[in-house]
Order: sequence, then C-alpha cells, then structure tokens
Amino acid sequence: DWTTGNVIEEQIEAIRAQVGEKRAICGLSGGVDSAVAAALVQKAIGSQLTCVYVDHGLMRKGETEQVEKDFVAATGVKLKVVDAQERFLKALAGVSDPEEKRKIIGREFIRVFEQAQAEIVAEAPDDHPVEFLVQGTLYPDVVESGGGTGTANIKSHHNVGGLPEDLEFQLIEPLRKLFKDEVRMVGAELGLPEEIVQRQPFPGPGLGIRIVGEVTKERLDLLREADAIAREELTAAGLDRDIWQCPVVLLADVRSVGVQGDGRTYGHPIVLRPVSSEDAMTADWTRMPYDVLAKISTRITNEVKDVNRVVLDVTSKPPGTIEWE
Ligand code: XMP
Repeated sequence: DWTTGNVIEEQIEAIRAQVGEKRAICGLSGGVDSAVAAALVQKAIGSQLTCVYVDHGLMRKGETEQVEKDFVAATGVKLKVVDAQERFLKALAGVSDPEEKRKIIGREFIRVFEQAQAEIVAEAPDDHPVEFLVQGTLYPDVVESGGGTGTANIKSHHNVGGLPEDLEFQLIEPLRKLFKDEVRMVGAELGLPEEIVQRQPFPGPGLGIRIVGEVTKERLDLLREADAIAREELTAAGLDRDIWQCPVVLLADVRSVGVQGDGRTYGHPIVLRPVSSEDAMTADWTRMPYDVLAKISTRITNEVKDVNRVVLDVTSKPPGTIEWE
C-alpha cells in the first residue's frame, strides 16, 4: 500500500542499512526536493548527516537567507554554508551552450562538496568516514536524463546526468521513485513547514540555465531583479498555488529597439514562462490574468536596467520544456 508513512518507514530502514555508522552530507538547494531528502535522511541517521549549502551565485533573491534560517529552524540540521560564487562564475565564463553549462555546474557542485567533505572530516577526524552524498533526485529527473526507461537524454539534470565520472561519493537518493506531489506529502508528514513543502520547483543549476547566452555577474543581477518582481506580483495576486512555476528567462544574446522617455533604447527581452502542471513531465502554459501580466511587465521594464521588453511564452510541454535550457 502506498502511504507516506510507509514510504518514510521503508526509506529510513534502507538509509540506515546503507549508511551504517558512517557519515553523509547532503546538498541543499533551497528547493523542496533536497529539503525533503535531507529531512528524511536526518530522521534516519541524525547527527551523522551534515547539510551543505553551496551559494553558487545562481540563486534567486533571498534564497540563501531562507535556507540558513527557515530550514535550519524547521529541522535542527547541521548546516555548512559555502560561498562559491567566484568559483562558479569563473568556470562558466565564456560558455553559452546549455548542456555545457549544466555539466559545468554539476561538476563544480561535486568539487565543492568534496571540499566540504574534507573540511567536515578535518573537524572530527576520529569519527566515521564521510562516504555518502544525499540527493533529492525525483523520478521525472531520472526519466528525463535517460536513466529510467531508456528514453533519449533530453537534458542533463545536474543531479543525474551531470555527475563527474570520478565521483568519490556513494549516492543516497531516497526520492528516486517519487513524483513531486508525493514528495510534498512526505515533507508535510515529516513536519516541514508549508513555506518549504509548497515551494514552487526551482532547478538546481539555478539562474545559470535561465540566461540564454553567457552567464555573467551583471546578467545574473539583472535576472535576479526581474525574477523577484515577477514572484512578488504572482504572490500578491494569489496565484502561487495555481501556477506550478514561472521561470523568468533573460535573452542575453538578443537585443531589440525600444523607446523610453524621449530616448531610443536597445535592450534585452525578459521571457515569462508561467506553467501549470501535475508532475513537470507535461505542462501547459498558464492562462494568467492580463492585469497581472501587465503589472509585471510595467514593473520589470521600469525597474530593471537594460530590459526594454517582456514577452510571454505560450508553449506547452511538449514540445517546449519548462526551462529554456
Ligand atoms: P524541464 O525544463 O525539463 O523541467 O521541462 C522539468 C522540471 O525540472 C526542473 N529542472 C531541474 N531540477 N535540476 C533540478 O533539480 C535540474 O538540473 C533541472 N532542470 C530542470 C524544472 O524547473 C522543472 O520543474
């Protein structure tokens, strides 16, 4: 019988058997998946787990603070925060190809984890070794990265297809058979607060795959602003539950002519991609109220430097994926 209680019991037993007395680390992304995976593993092995939050500079506004405060408050988990912004920017410099970006981000994540592992070991060298890495991989991630049913590889989700071949960790993936709605139920059952359990999905590679073109600090700052405005207005309009997620994408390699005041502008477009979905395997574009779209568009073009156009993505999945890269 499928019940959240059974899933939790089963996973706790499996995790305990897998880990024994050794230690594990878990990367937190700020999203639901890694939060629920971490909470589950913590329930199974307690202080043998350390969570690592990598601030790669590809996060949205306020995200780092949310992990540092809310998640720790809810779970009491041991947390290590690593500032890796420069490292990621350097690794991504000059790269525009989506798959290459995903692979680089996945690789750098693992390198940072390995460093964190070394530090955790150095802090308590007599304790058992840190051999496990917890990941919040879901069933759709497995399928879409080609690992599930032999489907073609659509995208290398950073936590599946983007791992380096010389990985030093053994993986714990307690959500590998679950869909998003099931993960949310498991999270609620584990006592995680609403704000975490009901968060809209956000991809591990973050804003890095929402900039079409090269990722730079300046572009990230710009996209972060636009994204914050869109999220603010969607929340204010009470649409958070109706919309599965709304990627905000910067077309950094595209410019169009505009007019502002009495001057010509030559700026970048921002794409709004609101989608409705059950499990992200398929999706439809959300028929959002025009006045909310208008408000977002006006604010973004007024408040975000170098953006002079906002466009709406009206493609379902398939044929479009939810993210642009
Ligand atoms: P696509 O773009 O493939 O996205 O239709 C499906 C869902 O997966 C999210 N996504 C990711 N999540 N790591 C993640 O943890 C990734 O690399 C990744 N890429 C896409 C996306 O936001 C959507 O919810």
